[in-house]
Formats: sequence, structure tokens, C-alpha cells
Amino acid sequence: MAAENKKKEKTATCYQDCCAEVFNFYLGHSGEHEAILQCVHSVLPEEFKRIGAGKSSLDVLGVGSGGGQVDVQMLTLFQSTFPGVQITSDVVEGSIKLSNNFKALVGKTANLKNVPFQWHIMPSEDYVKQVKATEHVKKFDFIHMIQMIYYVDDLASTIEFYHGLLKENGRLMIIVETANGGWDTLWKTHSKDLCTHTITEYRSSAEIKACLDKMGLKYDEHPVPNTFDITNCFNPKDKFGCDLIDYLTAKEDFYASVTSEVKEAILDLLKNKCSSQKDGKIMFDSTLSCILVHA
Ligand SMILES: C[S@@+](CC[C@H](N)C(=O)[O-])C[C@H]1O[C@@H](n2cnc3c(N)ncnc32)[C@H](O)[C@@H]1O
Repeated sequence: MAAENKKKEKTATCYQDCCAEVFNFYLGHSGEHEAILQCVHSVLPEEFKRIGAGKSSLDVLGVGSGGGQVDVQMLTLFQSTFPGVQITSDVVEGSIKLSNNFKALVGKTANLKNVPFQWHIMPSEDYVKQVKATEHVKKFDFIHMIQMIYYVDDLASTIEFYHGLLKENGRLMIIVETANGGWDTLWKTHSKDLCTHTITEYRSSAEIKACLDKMGLKYDEHPVPNTFDITNCFNPKDKFGCDLIDYLTAKEDFYASVTSEVKEAILDLLKNKCSSQKDGKIMFDSTLSCILVHA
């Protein structure tokens, strides 16, 4: 029974059905992908040159890639940096729905026609088991985990496993909410009320870097600045604001599901500690951190 519950929980973290829609709603309003893509285009060109120098093929692995919007841009960047070099793409993604979106996007992206994709539609934990049971393990030049490391069971063993899959000169890119940003402040201050369902242990870049330091791994860090407007979240009658605060707190119905004491405390924190005010709007600090771990 315990194992069955665990299995259910793991599937739940993998953005199925309504979760996938809520995530797409968030992407549409937060500017998160735009911020990540800005970082991709400013930081990765030089990294890719170093990673690919002298190689005749490049193997990329995305873990928790979702709908693949960022993956497609990175693969395209790899292609333009190394025209003529064979690129392969493996994807480990727990959500069938988001994987289907990713596949559809690949189908629409003409330049990816010659990139073979291997889809591992399963939670990362199952992929790890599968690889460990394999004799000839595929290694990668570039592995990325964008906004997904919150959901893995064991942080240290996950990092150790994927780092172990890197080829010479490879990089493991982890993009995560930054230490002391809006998300970190909200989720650490109210961990008792928020870390109750899919995320039981909140992690920001602070926890990732502490883990990398402990493992003695070398890394570089780049900020991914972003803010978005949460003014409507303070009006319980505003449907858009309620949907957004539900995403911020990972609650199905924030206004109906927490006590008035907790509600007041969270609203106060969101307004005064997690955000800044600009032109009469409350702008949530959703800065991320891009961590590039060396092989
Ligand atoms: C916040 S979304 C990020 C998606 C994508 N990287 C992006 O930035 O658009 C988290 C993704 O991780 C996936 N995920 C969550 N837990 C997972 C796990 N244990 N193994 C594999 N994928 C997982 C979800 O299905 C979802 O696609």
C-alpha cells in the first residue's frame, strides 16, 4: 500500500492532465521562458563551443523537459554552432501530455528533422533504474534539468547520477529558482503550509549549490532575472488572480483551502517580501539561477 501511494505521488508530480494546463497558463503569464531563453542565448553559445570542440557528434539529454519549448531552442543553437555535426536528443519526461506537446513541436520545427529523438516517457527515478541495469550506457555532452529538480526524490543521488552520464568537457545545466528570490522566500517561510503535496522539500539554488559543494563538483552560476505582475492575486474575486496564486502556492484553491491566519500571512509576505511595486503593480521576483556543472 505504501509503495502504491508512493507511485501515485510520483506520477502526480509529472504534470499530467490539469497540472499540464495550469503550467501552460503560468508560462503564458510569467515571462519565464522568455527569461530562460535570454539566458540561453547569452550564456550557452560560448559554452556550446567549448563542449563541442573537436567532437564529431553531440548527444543532448533533457530531463523534465515539459513541452520542449526551451529544448528546441537549445538544439537549434547547437546546430548553428556546429553545422554538419550529428546531434542526438534524448528526453526523460514523466508527463505523457507534455511529451506529446513536445513531439508536436518537434514535428513543426523543420531544422530538427535530422535529429533523432529517443523518448523516455517515465519519471527520472525509473530512467535511473533502467540505465543502471544496462550494460552499454549512453553518455551525453549536454544534460539539462530546467525547473524540475524540485520533484526528484533524492537531490544528491540525482545530481551524482546525471553528472556521471557526462562525456568529457560536458556540462550539466540546472535551472532553478534562486536563493532569496520570491519563490524561495515564500516556500521556505511557509514550508509547513506549502510543502504538503507534490513538493515535500523545497529547493532553491542554495540547496543545489550546497549539494554540489559537498560533492566537490565545479560549477558556474548565472542569474536569470525575471518578475511578473501578481497584483490580481490579492483580489479573491478575480479568476485570473486566483489561478495565479494557486500556481504560486501549489494549492487547488488557495483562498478556500488555508486558514485566514495563513492567508493573511502569505498575502503580506507576497506583497512585502517577495515583490516590489512598480507603476502601481505588484511585481513578484521570480529570478532563477542557471548553474552549469562541469564534467
Ligand atoms: C515546471 S515543469 C518544467 C518543464 C520544462 N523544463 C520547462 O521549463 O518548460 C517540470 C517538469 O518536470 C517534469 N517532472 C516532474 N517530476 C519528474 C520526474 N520525477 N521525472 C521526470 N520528469 C519530471 C514534469 O512533468 C514537468 O514537465
